[in-house]
Amino acid sequence: MSKVHHVAVLVGSLRKGSINRKLALALAELAPASLKLEIVEIGDLPLYNEDIDHDQPPEAYIRFRAKLKAADALLFVTPEYNRSVPAPMKNAIDVGSRPYGQSAFSGKPGAVLSASPGAIGGFGANQHLRQSMVFLDVPMMQQPEAYLGGAGSFFEEAGMLGDGIKPFLRKFIDAYAEWVEQQVKG
Ligand SMILES: Cc1cc2nc3c(=O)[nH]c(=O)nc-3n(C[C@H](O)[C@H](O)[C@H](O)COP(=O)(O)O)c2cc1C
Repeated sequence: MSKVHHVAVLVGSLRKGSINRKLALALAELAPASLKLEIVEIGDLPLYNEDIDHDQPPEAYIRFRAKLKAADALLFVTPEYNRSVPAPMKNAIDVGSRPYGQSAFSGKPGAVLSASPGAIGGFGANQHLRQSMVFLDVPMMQQPEAYLGGAGSFFEEAGMLGDGIKPFLRKFIDAYAEWVEQQVKG
């Protein structure tokens, strides 16, 4: 078998019952053997402030950047807040992008999936996140786009993923595995 690619998964919601976190975990289970997905937590990152990011940055920044740097690829799974990326996710992007010239994101293949109970599936957050990734030189998978609306009904009461959304998640994660393979080979 070819090399296993380690994927750092960033989840844009901090709440315990997050649909997006559940989707990230479901993707980890559905992923082909060539990918190993691991959620990298972002909730403990102090709000980005250049004043504290000099000789001795916060431990949480150091840990987070090291985990990103150790990963081969990136996957963003996020809700939309007020038609954009939730603050914790934007903060994580800002922390990972610094110090200047040492971004932990640069060149790693990425993809984004957004989900919302609303009808348009976090389209605004998804596109805003892509905008930052262009700047950070993260080649993002283009297709399939993943704006998952009506996500409030994806999980049954026991927390199990319903059958309805599974085929799309499989298609998404298989396409992403191919994308990572292509990008890593160069
Ligand atoms: C501050 C805030 C802003 C929100 N703005 C939007 C929005 O712009 N579009 C949308 O579809 N849902 C919006 N929502 C609803 C979220 O999609 C919903 O709470 C969702 O379940 C959050 O994802 P999670 O389950 O992963 O936490 C907002 C929720 C909050 C708390």
